[in-house]
Amino acid sequence: MSCSLWLLICCYCCISIICNWKLVFACPAECICLSQTQVLCNTGGLREIPARLLPVTVENLALTKNHFPVIKSDAFGGLRALKKLSLDGNNITTIKPFAFRGLPRLRELSIQHTPLATVAQFAFAGLQNITTILLSHNKILRVEGFAFAGTSNVRLILLSNNPMLKIETSAFSGLSNVEHLILPSGVRTVEPDAFTGLDTVGLLKLAYMDLVSLAPFTFRGLTSVQMLSLQESDLGVICSNAFDGLSHVGMLSILNNKIDAIQELNITAGHFIRQIKFQGNHLLETPEPETIIIDGVENLIVVNNHFPCGCHIHTLLETPLANGTYSGIDFLAKNFCISPLEVNGRPMSDLDLYAIGRCQEQVTRENLEASSGRTINFYTVLCSILITFYLSVTTLLSS
Ligand SMILES: *[C@@H]1O[C@H](CO)[C@@H](O)[C@H](O)[C@H]1NC(C)=O
Ligand SMILES: *[C@@H]1O[C@H](CO)[C@@H](O)[C@H](O)[C@H]1NC(C)=O
Ligand SMILES: *[C@@H]1O[C@H](CO)[C@@H](O)[C@H](O)[C@H]1NC(C)=O
Ligand SMILES: *[C@@H]1O[C@H](CO)[C@@H](O)[C@H](O)[C@H]1NC(C)=O
Repeated sequence: MSCSLWLLICCYCCISIICNWKLVFACPAECICLSQTQVLCNTGGLREIPARLLPVTVENLALTKNHFPVIKSDAFGGLRALKKLSLDGNNITTIKPFAFRGLPRLRELSIQHTPLATVAQFAFAGLQNITTILLSHNKILRVEGFAFAGTSNVRLILLSNNPMLKIETSAFSGLSNVEHLILPSGVRTVEPDAFTGLDTVGLLKLAYMDLVSLAPFTFRGLTSVQMLSLQESDLGVICSNAFDGLSHVGMLSILNNKIDAIQELNITAGHFIRQIKFQGNHLLETPEPETIIIDGVENLIVVNNHFPCGCHIHTLLETPLANGTYSGIDFLAKNFCISPLEVNGRPMSDLDLYAIGRCQEQVTRENLEASSGRTINFYTVLCSILITFYLSVTTLLSS
């Protein structure tokens, strides 16, 4: 046989092997299929998600830096083996409801460095087996109610580095058994019932907020939290009822905040809060003793805070905050004065308490209260305006 015939047969074999290989290993031209389980389509200039063209066996899929402005519902339908999906660096502006439906094995989803501004209702609904949802470095302003509905057993939801100003009512409803929920800095409003329907959380951390007030019913409907931490924030006024409806908390941690005033703090046995740590805060106004109730808490730690030390110090010492029998800590030695100026920064134990008289206004107020019953101050008004405003908005929306 001639040499050219051999060559022909050889070529035919090669071509058929390549073709068969392609049948098993369907791979879009813009992608690199490293194996049947790992596919990279990074910077491929893709304008649509090539879900149908990918091997159904793919477990690890990277689709970073393409052009996908919209992730449609069921966008990855058919890729039932998918475990890890990255959509980082795309120009995603919209994620439709149930975009990730039909991915029963998906464990890790990353959508970071995109212009996404809204996490819409049901966008991440029903991801039964997900452990990690990374959403940092986007332009997220809003997480709509029920965005994560039906998603359970997540280890981490990361929302840091987003310009979110408000945490809306029900934003995390239907989310259960989350280990860490990390919210962005710069939040200015936490709506009442923001965490309602969020059940069994390891750590819920709210840091670097700038609030006018911690509104009534902020934590209503939040249950079973190992650690709820409010830290490094301007909390404004802590309104009465702010912690109403919160239950079963291992540790409520209030760390390094500025607090203008406490209208009322009423923690009772019904909250099932095991420990409260109130540490490193600057409280600008002394609460009235009868406005602080702390009951049924195993351990109350109040250290390294700064309190006003004028004539009001006597009222402060009557509140449970100063009750060292909880933790065995000497309140006066471990806390500091914020005012008057001459004692700023000094430990309270430096003061000669007997030399400080009770406030004149306190004396008159006590007399007044005896006759009229209740004092009305600026904070009562602020907090009640807030709740009235919120109630009227919700009635408007629901009608
Ligand atoms: C986003 O992607 C779409 C692709 O359809 C493209 O038309 C658009 O110009 C892209 N926008 C930016 C800002 O890259
Ligand atoms: C979910 O993940 C677990 C452990 O990684 C796995 O054993 C299980 O089969 C997965 N569930 C589904 C529906 O694939
Ligand atoms: C504190 O809360 C308990 C239980 O919710 C309630 O019964 C009580 O009246 C409240 N006390 C004040 C002073 O608001
Ligand atoms: C101080 O705390 C202890 C322990 O919880 C409690 O029994 C006691 O009544 C408290 N005293 C005051 C004055 O609140």
